[in-house]
Amino acid sequence: MSDEQNHNVSRRQFLTYTLTGVGGFMAAGIILPMARFAIDPVLQAESEGDMKAVTDVSELTDTPQRFDFSYEQEDAWNTSEVTETAFIYQSGEEIVALSNTCTHLGCKVSWGSSSDHPNQFYCPCHGGRYEKDGTNIEGTPPTEPLHKYQVEVREGTVYVGKAEPQV
Ligand code: FES
Repeated sequence: MSDEQNHNVSRRQFLTYTLTGVGGFMAAGIILPMARFAIDPVLQAESEGDMKAVTDVSELTDTPQRFDFSYEQEDAWNTSEVTETAFIYQSGEEIVALSNTCTHLGCKVSWGSSSDHPNQFYCPCHGGRYEKDGTNIEGTPPTEPLHKYQVEVREGTVYVGKAEPQV
C-alpha cells in the first residue's frame, strides 16, 4: 500500500468518524426530547398515584361502610375523572379499606347484601363471597381476596392510595 493510499484511507476514516459523530449528535438532539415527551406523562401519572381523602375517621364503625371517592387521573395525555369505591371499617387500631371489585371477573361486591350471608361481602354476578377482611370464601368463584387500599390518617381524615392484592 502506497503512502498516498494510506493518506486517502485515513482521510476517509476521518470523514466517516466525523460524519458519524455529527450525525449521532444530531440524532440524539432529535430523539432525546421525543423520548422525554413520550415517557414524561407516564412518569407523571405514576407520581400522581397519591393518597385521596375519603372520609373522617369519626364516620367509621366496625362494620364495612361504602365510600365513593373521585379524583382526576392523568393517563398519558388524557385527563379523566375516576370514581372508586372502598368499603372501610375500623378493626381495633387498624383501618381497613377494601376494594369493591370482585377478584373473579370484576363485578362490584357489597357488604351484607345477601340475606343468607349478612356478614360477608357478596358479588351478585356469580355468587362470589368474601369474609369481612376480604378473604375469598372457598367454594365460591373468586380465587383471591379483595384488594386492599393503602390507608393513611392525617388530622382525622382517612386517605386511601392504591388498592393492592392481599396475596
Ligand atoms: S364476578 Fe364476582 S363472582 Fe364472578
